[in-house]
Amino acid sequence: MANKTGYSFATWTGFIEESEIRSLLRYTVKYYFAGGKPGIIPTEIFANIMKDLSERYKADPKLALEDLNYGPTGGQSWFLKTLAKRLHDVREVPIDCETEWECVTITNGSQQALYALIDTMIDPGDIIITPSPSYLGFLVPAVKLGGRIVTIPTDMNGIIPEYVEKAILISKRKFGKTPDIMYVVPDSDNPKGTTLPASRRKKLYDIAESHNILIIEDSAYAEIQFKENPKPIKTFDKDNKRVAYLGTTSKEAAVLRVGYSVLPVNVREQVLKDKGYLDLCTSTLVQRILDEYYKHHIDDAMKTAIPLYKARYEAMAKAIDSSFPAGERTDPTGGFFIWWQSEDKSFSSKVFMQDVAIPNDIIYVPGGPFYPITGYKLNDGGNELVPARPELNTMRIGYSYAEPELITEGIERLGGLLSKALG
Ligand SMILES: Cc1ncc(COP(=O)(O)O)c(C=O)c1O
Repeated sequence: MANKTGYSFATWTGFIEESEIRSLLRYTVKYYFAGGKPGIIPTEIFANIMKDLSERYKADPKLALEDLNYGPTGGQSWFLKTLAKRLHDVREVPIDCETEWECVTITNGSQQALYALIDTMIDPGDIIITPSPSYLGFLVPAVKLGGRIVTIPTDMNGIIPEYVEKAILISKRKFGKTPDIMYVVPDSDNPKGTTLPASRRKKLYDIAESHNILIIEDSAYAEIQFKENPKPIKTFDKDNKRVAYLGTTSKEAAVLRVGYSVLPVNVREQVLKDKGYLDLCTSTLVQRILDEYYKHHIDDAMKTAIPLYKARYEAMAKAIDSSFPAGERTDPTGGFFIWWQSEDKSFSSKVFMQDVAIPNDIIYVPGGPFYPITGYKLNDGGNELVPARPELNTMRIGYSYAEPELITEGIERLGGLLSKALG
């Protein structure tokens, strides 16, 4: 593709736009309900860890030389062991911490793990199953790398397994292929905030087993839970063959750009090959800081953070219920987001945001980008795959960043503006 400067850019630059969430980060507004930005970070804990570390480095220059250096692509063994223990003890991920800690892989954010997984699993035209709507940080790379997205209807409990089964059978008939990947966020999904019940988790696992599909279980919000959740899908995967389990430090620690995952052995090998060329390795210094956090501080930090996030959620839910016009919202039990859909199908949350919300100091994320720019969905009868279309009367409203008083004020203001526009 030629442009004004005469350079010939790669084809994807012509059809992939900048991430809507990234572009929204440019706005400074009073009422920020957009990106999944954590508003509660244990800054004092991290300040103390860094202070102690600086003393240790002064006393031990050899340690400092190692920690300020390149390291193994998949992460430092001491950090992998710490994470393996937490994944086993707290999340019930079935790995033996003594002998299988090397199954854990460190990436630059779980975003890099998502990208590398698609990059290593998908050839152009290969099929990827996702919920509708779905995390745009997964959808866009999947389209960029040539994946054929098949979206599955969701309800207040997330993706509906019966439709997954149908979509697989129709994909086989229509494209002559079985899907390679199924992507799900079981705990407080992004963007809808819904949580998959235990029975659906098991059904998805069984479907993946019977059709030889890799499940990507993105557990970004697993630690930010207001009540106890069903066990991860990964718990069914005793032999570590079927589920790529992804975690991130971003929501439960600090945004230090570190993700951790448990990948089937052959998948891990390919993902690490990819990562080796993407960034060589993840910063050792950052792994050292996080190692201290996961060994000694995460439980206390979560005990403080979860009630504070819950209060933000409650403030938002209450203000939506009292001020928004006719529509439906989700009722998350954790995570960062509420999803709202207007009853009015002609409403565009994107146009409204540009014309009304931003001039009133409010941003959220319009729902459109959580649907693939090209892809398929089941038709109403559930017996054919038809082109997927975004539902533009939707929005993702994040409660993670603003304090409860500001949430109440901002959401009531947004509700008033929406009611005026929608009657
Ligand atoms: C569901 C989900 N997965 C992955 C990510 C990426 O997280 P990170 O790259 O910060 O680990 C996010 C970020 O918001 C997310 O919401």
